[in-house]
Amino acid sequence: MMAGGGGSAVAGGPALHIPVLGRPAIGFLNIRDGGVYIDGTFGAGGYTRAMLAAADCKVIGIDRDQTAIARGADLVEQAGGRLTLIEDRFSNLETVVRDAGHELVDGIVLDLGVSSMQLDSGERGFSFRHDGPLDMRMGGEDASAADVVNAASERDLAGIIFTLGEERHSRAIARAVVKARAIAPIATTHQLAQVVATIVRPRAGDIHPATRTFQALRIFVNDELGELAAALQAAERMLKTGGRLVIVSFHSLEDRIVKTFLTDRSNTRGGSRHVPEVRRHAPTFQVLTKRPLTADDEEVANNPRARSAKLRAAERTATAPRRGIPAALLPHLPSLSAVLKGR
Ligand SMILES: C[S@@+](CC[C@H](N)C(=O)[O-])C[C@H]1O[C@@H](n2cnc3c(N)ncnc32)[C@H](O)[C@@H]1O
Repeated sequence: MMAGGGGSAVAGGPALHIPVLGRPAIGFLNIRDGGVYIDGTFGAGGYTRAMLAAADCKVIGIDRDQTAIARGADLVEQAGGRLTLIEDRFSNLETVVRDAGHELVDGIVLDLGVSSMQLDSGERGFSFRHDGPLDMRMGGEDASAADVVNAASERDLAGIIFTLGEERHSRAIARAVVKARAIAPIATTHQLAQVVATIVRPRAGDIHPATRTFQALRIFVNDELGELAAALQAAERMLKTGGRLVIVSFHSLEDRIVKTFLTDRSNTRGGSRHVPEVRRHAPTFQVLTKRPLTADDEEVANNPRARSAKLRAAERTATAPRRGIPAALLPHLPSLSAVLKGR
C-alpha cells in the first residue's frame, strides 16, 4: 500500500514515538543532494523527517504496518515528491526499490523492533501492560501470538521462549501454558501474563516477569530475525559503492546477527597460508563502528527505550555481493507453519 488519505497527526504533528539514536543514525548515512535513501522502518517518520531535512534527497520509507504508512500521508504531501511510502516488509527492499524505479541506493537505515504506538495500543496485543487480544502482528501476517500459544507443542513453545526470550524458566512456562489452555484458550495479553506470573516471580528492581516470554512470541510471530538476515543480504546487493548501511537494534539477538554479518562481510574470507591468494574474497563492507554506538545518559533519561539500543554502521565497498550467510547467523527453530501444526 502506498500512503494516501487517512492522514493523522503522528508523522506530521506530535511525535508519539521518540526516535532513538536519530542524530548518529542520520550522520552515518552521509546524506547528499540527489541521493536515494531507504528508511526500512518508517514508524512515526522521525528518521525519515531528519533524512529529508539533511539534503535535497529522495527517501523511500517502508513499514509492514499499514497504520504507520497511513499516518505518514501528511509527510508524503509535505515532502513534495521526495518521499514515497510503501507498505511492505524490509526483507523485500530489493523489489520495493526496483518498483520505485531505482537500480541501487545510497543508504539504508533500519531502526528495529516495535514503535511506541504499536506497544501502547492495547488492541495490537504487544504488551502485558495493556489488556487486549494476544495478537502481536506488526503487519498482515497470517498467525497471531494467540494462534502460536494455543497450537504449539509444549516442546516448541519452550524452545521459542528459551531461544528468542533467553528465558531460563522456558520449560516451566510452556508446561503452565499447555495446562492453562486445556481449560480454555489463552486469548488475551493479561491471560498470558498471568500464566507466566505463576512461574516467574516478580523481583524488586527486575523487569516484569512476562517480558521475555512476550519478546520471544513477538519475534517469532513476525519472523523478526529472518527479516533482518534477509534485509542485510538485500542491502549488500542494493547499495552503491560508498553507500551506507545503518542498523539500530534493541536486544542481543538482533545485535549479534548484525555484528556476525558485518564481521563476515568485512573480513577477507579464505585467508590462510593453505589457500591461494586468488581464491580469497575481498570485503563487501567496511565497518565504520568498531564498537556499537549506544545512547548517552541524557537520551536515556529522556527516552527509556534508548537504554538497550545499539547502532552499527558500515560502508559498501566495490566488491560484488557474496552469496549466503554465515552458518550460525540464525537460531535453529521450527517454522511458524510447522509450529501451528503442533499439538
Ligand atoms: C522502532 S520503529 C521505527 C521508528 C522510526 N525510526 C521513527 O523514527 O519513527 C520500528 C518500525 O519498523 C516496523 N518494522 C519492524 N519490522 C519490520 C519489517 N520486517 N519490515 C518493515 N517494517 C518493519 C514496525 O512496524 C515499526 O513501525
